[in-house]
Amino acid sequence: MERTLSIIKPDGVARGLTGEVIKRFESNNIKIIAMKMISMNLAQAEGFYAVHKKRPFFSSLTEFMSSGPCVTMVLEGENVIAKNRELMGATDYREAKEGTIRRDFATDIEKNIVHGSDSPESASFETGYFFNSFEIVG
Ligand code: CMP
Repeated sequence: MERTLSIIKPDGVARGLTGEVIKRFESNNIKIIAMKMISMNLAQAEGFYAVHKKRPFFSSLTEFMSSGPCVTMVLEGENVIAKNRELMGATDYREAKEGTIRRDFATDIEKNIVHGSDSPESASFETGYFFNSFEIVG
């Protein structure tokens, strides 16, 4: 069993896609074991995306991620890190496969509806960034 962090980004929440994203997880046998709506300030978004600090899109990304509420979830299942990334599709929605969340809904490489951890190490850091052990029903 693996765990991963999912975020429905401010564009996904503002566009009313929270239920749609959750439905895709649940209908693919992915279990949600923690969930909350949060509103990050800039420093919190910078801390979350610290690994991208040197990238040219860092300041735009962190401003976007702190521009409105997000829904954060811990997902559990077999190979859930890869499975979630498959459901999300490529970061750039123009390269994402048909039927993926980003291909269906993203409008921009930055405003791409969802985030998902990309490795067990980042899943562990990212899950711990938003949830303590009492908030995870595992
Ligand atoms: P995410 O999966 O949350 O990881 C980093 C985020 O940076 C990515 O999704 C996009 O929202 C954003 N981003 C903006 N521009 C780029 C880019 N050129 N390459 C990768 N990620 C980008």
